[in-house]
Amino acid sequence: ASKIGIIGAMAEEIERLHEHVRVTDTFTKAGITYYEGKLHGKNVIYCKSGVGKVNAAVCTQLLLDAGASHVLFTGVAGALDPRLDIGDIVVSSSCIQHDMDCSPLGYQLGEIPYHPNSVFRADPGLIELAASASERLFPGRCLTGVVLSGDQFIASKEKVEELHQSLKGACAEMEGASVAQVCEMNGIPFVVIRSMSDKADGSAHANFADFTVQASNHSYRIIDDILQRI
Ligand code: ADE
Repeated sequence: ASKIGIIGAMAEEIERLHEHVRVTDTFTKAGITYYEGKLHGKNVIYCKSGVGKVNAAVCTQLLLDAGASHVLFTGVAGALDPRLDIGDIVVSSSCIQHDMDCSPLGYQLGEIPYHPNSVFRADPGLIELAASASERLFPGRCLTGVVLSGDQFIASKEKVEELHQSLKGACAEMEGASVAQVCEMNGIPFVVIRSMSDKADGSAHANFADFTVQASNHSYRIIDDILQRI
């Protein structure tokens, strides 16, 4: 039977799950608490990974070891594509680790030496479910594109332009490509759904907390819609 794994990095990003999932079991490992239960009659297991690629990788492997058959990541990101506004949605076509840089050795930016792949493609069926839910809920405010992850909060116009040009990133965050790599290593389908909390240009300051709550709610609504249809 399928068991849908759902990860958010921060408390705001999984708060709506706490309200809507009927939790029947919990366990804690490596400091991460996993909640198992039902949402719209589907088996789900969800957790808060913490911020960054290491937390996300550990979290994802434990989620898969607990039997997750699919992984959805819900949360916020900084917009890189100039068409995106705060609150808009990005569904991952693929994920790349933008801070993996062995270019002095002749590798492409993002390329992981000796690893079979560095561009982690999301599952086409999950992309379709996420993109159609996004378009229904937030018409004209969604795009499917490359999600870039790194252990950096992006906050300058120069970096935004660089990441948008070099790796064609739609948005920047700190976990998606790590989750993606672990899913690929285990042969498990995934998709990342991010709502924009800021424009990654250094203007994320006083409003960041408010926008994060709003954007987290947008991302949750898409997850909720997917669970009704999956
Ligand atoms: N998550 C939300 N905004 C972000 C940014 N600007 N950079 C990295 N991760 C983010």
